[in-house]
Amino acid sequence: MYQYTEEQLNSMKKVEATRKERTANLFRRMTAEEKQSVLQEYHPDYIEGAYETLKVGKNKGGKVLHELASLLQGKSRIHDYKIDLENPNYDVDVLVIGGGGAGSSAAITADDNGAKVMIVTKLRIGDANTMMAEGGIQAADKPNDSPAIHYLDAFGGGHFAAKPCLLEKLVCEAPDAIRWLNDLGVMFDKTEDGTMVTTHGGGTSRKRMHACKDYSGAEIMRTLRDEVINRGIPVVDFTAAIEIIKDSNGNAAGAVLLNMETGEIKVAKAKTVVIATGGAGRLHYQGFPTSNHYGATADGLVLAYRAGAKLMYPETLQYHPTGVAEPTQIFGALVTEKVRSLGAQLVNKDGEPFVYSLETRDVTASTIIRECKGRKNSVKTTDGEGVWLDTPMIDQINGEGTIEKRIPAMLRMFIKYGIDIRKDPILIYPTLHYQNGGIDIKANGESEDVGNLFVAGEAVGGIHGKNRLMGNSLLDIIVFGRNAGKFASAKVKEGIEVGTLTLDHVDAFEKELKDAGVDTGIVSPKLLPDYTRKDM
Ligand code: FUM
Repeated sequence: MYQYTEEQLNSMKKVEATRKERTANLFRRMTAEEKQSVLQEYHPDYIEGAYETLKVGKNKGGKVLHELASLLQGKSRIHDYKIDLENPNYDVDVLVIGGGGAGSSAAITADDNGAKVMIVTKLRIGDANTMMAEGGIQAADKPNDSPAIHYLDAFGGGHFAAKPCLLEKLVCEAPDAIRWLNDLGVMFDKTEDGTMVTTHGGGTSRKRMHACKDYSGAEIMRTLRDEVINRGIPVVDFTAAIEIIKDSNGNAAGAVLLNMETGEIKVAKAKTVVIATGGAGRLHYQGFPTSNHYGATADGLVLAYRAGAKLMYPETLQYHPTGVAEPTQIFGALVTEKVRSLGAQLVNKDGEPFVYSLETRDVTASTIIRECKGRKNSVKTTDGEGVWLDTPMIDQINGEGTIEKRIPAMLRMFIKYGIDIRKDPILIYPTLHYQNGGIDIKANGESEDVGNLFVAGEAVGGIHGKNRLMGNSLLDIIVFGRNAGKFASAKVKEGIEVGTLTLDHVDAFEKELKDAGVDTGIVSPKLLPDYTRKDM
């Protein structure tokens, strides 16, 4: 049994005492006005002091969080090295930067189209947020559903701010993305007759979440990684892109690469470049813990910004409502939304529900913060405070064995610390989960501003608007990964004459910084988080 404090144990007893009556009474949904009010008062995106105005680049005058501003307006790493652009070490059609789900899907599709493709990744292929995704992937492929309904759910959930051509692509190509993954060998949950099992997520009006228990991302990444390797697509791992190379025509034409182990510099020349570098959780915006993998440091945004790309909604982040608040060893780790889809309820220190458990994520997270900071109805934890997620309700509602069958990863994660989620509720608090914003692209995946620069996955901005629904991220890495691979390789086929390689844009950007009097003293992209204790 986990060593809970006395306060925690007493509170847990209150949760147990109210469970039966709560099972029968679902908490009501909030009105639009109530949602807006709780967002404004408690969502971290609304804390003005956390933001600053960018002084240079395509988003000059726009606001981003301090942590991102210092990287976007940081100094390039290339000054430490001698870079020979005339003798590239690699020369390919499609250079994919990033070895997660989006990068792998792009590479497989470009390879299908006969392009010479190469993946570079700063860790190993599969070290990515894709691998850590749990709950599932959305697609409207059941008779009671349609891409139009999926569009409306996602558009509303994202505050009507999604770029329509991107969201349309996401929902219309979703059923084919599921078919593609299934054909590649992803072991989706199915009933005995082969029908896909689908559930709700926050903000969905139809059950369209396809899952592989609660290992959905790991199963998808396993399959994509096998496919990349089986096809013999070259993967250069432990190698980070530290700058996009452009050509004399102003288009993307490769990248400067840094071997993370040896410190060697290499030059990759390419006819097209795909940025698929993922998210930014490891920047720990506003001091939040994160559910993200170790390499999620917004590198793609920095590379693209310096190359002249505009970012869309870089100021909006997603704080997943249910990060682990206790035990401290897994502080911030993801407790999948599927736990709530299966019936677990959010309750405060007195065992009282305070929100309908499947409101959209930004709203749910804000109500948790309100319960803790505003109403003082939280339970103290080792690292701060939290509220309860009443997991035993799942078996109570759906029958014994449901937790073991549907969310075995959650069961295992907590049981290691002596917490049996079938018997006891768990303490949670919001955790930094997803970057809603990113590089502004056209429907073909190409940057709106930089020719031959394609983007896929979490590095894209605008697909989801200002808040993403569960399961639309695993979907976007597949849809936009394949999209980038398809259009980047098609452009190569049409014929691309690469001009003289240059890094002049980096000098120009740094001159802009100097003229604006900006010196953050920070070198970027960050590449890896720094957890060195500053007091040692
Ligand atoms: O809660 C989850 O399983 C997360 C899914 C997502 O971010 O799409």
